[in-house]
Amino acid sequence: MKRAAVAIGLWALAGGVAAATPLLELMKQEVDPAANAFWAAGNDPPEGEGPQAADARWAAAAVAAAKLEADGRLLTRPEHSRPGEWDAYAEMMEEAAAAGRIAIGKRDVEAAFEAGGRLYEACAGCHARYIPGRGG
Ligand code: HEC
Repeated sequence: MKRAAVAIGLWALAGGVAAATPLLELMKQEVDPAANAFWAAGNDPPEGEGPQAADARWAAAAVAAAKLEADGRLLTRPEHSRPGEWDAYAEMMEEAAAAGRIAIGKRDVEAAFEAGGRLYEACAGCHARYIPGRGG
């Protein structure tokens, strides 16, 4: 996990997500790619994946989990927060990402899958409630 730890450190040094990123940009450029990298830890590995590719996939998932944790926290800040259940969904995202980060650190596929499910509920729940036309 050394490589993942280094990557997370570098990302933190770079300042993480800029606080003033507009929401849609944050979702498309940060949250969505990070979620996909995160979910890759709890899914079946790609066919014929070698040990090096597996290391890279887990390392990317660890970085993604740390990003999602920070993004969840960011969503509760005044510049993003909204009335109603917004903060609850954002906190659910943060907590699922934190649980996923621990699972990914242990390469625990089962726990990563579970955290991934909770993460998905946070995304889908907030979208259903706050994106007009999604219903919910
Ligand atoms: C706290 C609320 C909240 C959470 C949690 C959240 N989103 Fe979003 N997301 C939004 C809102 C609101 C928009 C619409 C933004 C706009 O159009 O200005 C959006 C838009 C998006 C979009 C672009 C529009 C589209 O096609 O759906 C993507 C992609 C996206 N979110 C991915 C995710 C993923 C993946 C997660 C979970 C890891 C997530 N979001 C979690 C509130 C949230």
